[in-house]
Amino acid sequence: MAQTSVESAHDASRTAAQDAAPTPETPSGDTLVIRGGKPLRGRVDVRGAKNLATKAMVAALLGDGPSILQDVPQISDVGVVRRMLDAYGVAVTSPEEGVLVLDPKNVERAHFAQIDALAGSSRIPILFCGPLLHRLGEALIPDLGGCRIGDRPIDFHLDALRAFGAVVDKSYEGIRITAPHGLTGANIELPYPSVGATEQVLLSAVKARGVTELKNAAIEPEIMDLIAILQKMGAIIWTEPNRTIFIEGVERLSGYTHRSIFDRNEAASWASAALATGGDIFVKGAKQLELLTFLNVFRKVGGAFDVQEDGIRFWHPGGTLRAAQVETDVHPGFMTDWQQPLIVALTQAVGTSIVHETVYENRFGFIDALVEMGADIVVHEDGLESVTRRVPRRKLEQAAVVTGPTKLHGANMEIPDLRGGFSHIIAALTAEGESRLTNLSLINRGYEHFAEKLRDLGADFSIED
Ligand code: EPZ
Repeated sequence: MAQTSVESAHDASRTAAQDAAPTPETPSGDTLVIRGGKPLRGRVDVRGAKNLATKAMVAALLGDGPSILQDVPQISDVGVVRRMLDAYGVAVTSPEEGVLVLDPKNVERAHFAQIDALAGSSRIPILFCGPLLHRLGEALIPDLGGCRIGDRPIDFHLDALRAFGAVVDKSYEGIRITAPHGLTGANIELPYPSVGATEQVLLSAVKARGVTELKNAAIEPEIMDLIAILQKMGAIIWTEPNRTIFIEGVERLSGYTHRSIFDRNEAASWASAALATGGDIFVKGAKQLELLTFLNVFRKVGGAFDVQEDGIRFWHPGGTLRAAQVETDVHPGFMTDWQQPLIVALTQAVGTSIVHETVYENRFGFIDALVEMGADIVVHEDGLESVTRRVPRRKLEQAAVVTGPTKLHGANMEIPDLRGGFSHIIAALTAEGESRLTNLSLINRGYEHFAEKLRDLGADFSIED
């Protein structure tokens, strides 16, 4: 591993208070006041994926040397993981903006109360299990947060850890996991291609004794990027075309140097914003392959896009938008995180659209506010039978029927969750009149410098306490 700049790095270790302190990117106020009706026009720079960077930071725990992660977004989810790693004795420094150096040399036990306090609303703590069991023989999981989009169970994770030989003790504080005899490779088949559970298996299997076979694995681009990181560290991982992954455990792993994949969710959010507001946005860093299914739907609805060397231009070509039928699915299907911003654009399309949410059981919570703004959307809690179905029906699925076009007017609303919240912002930008959105801090979890980006796109807004 090349000598890193850890020793020479400017000591950028900060306290939680400093991390949480408002910066131009994470504005101090918690209320966003938007005066809508203006097309968004301009360029935004989308950097590393929230849902890769946080996992890559955890993977650094497995190395016996420092790791360097580049293109790290300045979002609060990264801050949460940084503080948790710090609590476990990992030296995390930032020699320059967007770069983290993570040195796991002095990993040590942390106190339960400390981890519980630091974990906040993040679900990432569950992914510390494998690395901590390898390093310390023990892992503590506080009661997990994450967006209010269903009960977000962790049964697949705990079953996988037990398959590796870990012992899971549930107490009133949370969950204590130990591995008195270390972890041993196992044959695991996931009931559903869960992203988190796949990451759990990868982070546990790479240093387990023997071979692990994982069936029905998630294969999202962020998962493949995590596999690339683990391979750089010295792991031996095969992927097969039928969602099967083989991991051959190794004795030791080194640190890594890696530039994170771009954030597909943020790119799709800005693309939908361009469509809904009748605008034109160049998303620097966006790549076609990881957005293939989104681009198909974007085009079917009537959006125009142009794939360029350093990003993708998304614009409303004029004329009317067309209604569409969309089914969310695991990769390479239409991602569940893409439906919230797209639904705002569908309120402006002519005709009746149906969006089947098949991944989570409660992902239309943001729709109430859109209806208050004048949208015509009906949520069918038990889903909807429809003629042309590609994605197999799931018991938990729901469907939203969007009839358009409808004129949206400003409203006051509380941001419910990360992706739904961004849809509220897009709806407020689309609506005539003023909207006041509270609970703005939720947006900071996953969208870097969003206030600056709104300004660069010509939005008319202000931020108040
Ligand atoms: C990840 O969540 C992402 N979060 C989500 O993004 C994303 O929507 C989701 O994957 C699907 O792509 C992070 O990476 C931090 P899952 P995750 O395990 O891993 C069920 C955002 O805004 N399930 O693939 O939690 C679960 O209930 C977030 O960035 C179990 O039943 O998603 C759901 O129905 C929102 N038991 C389905 O699997 C388990 O143990 C998919 O969940 C685990 C999951």
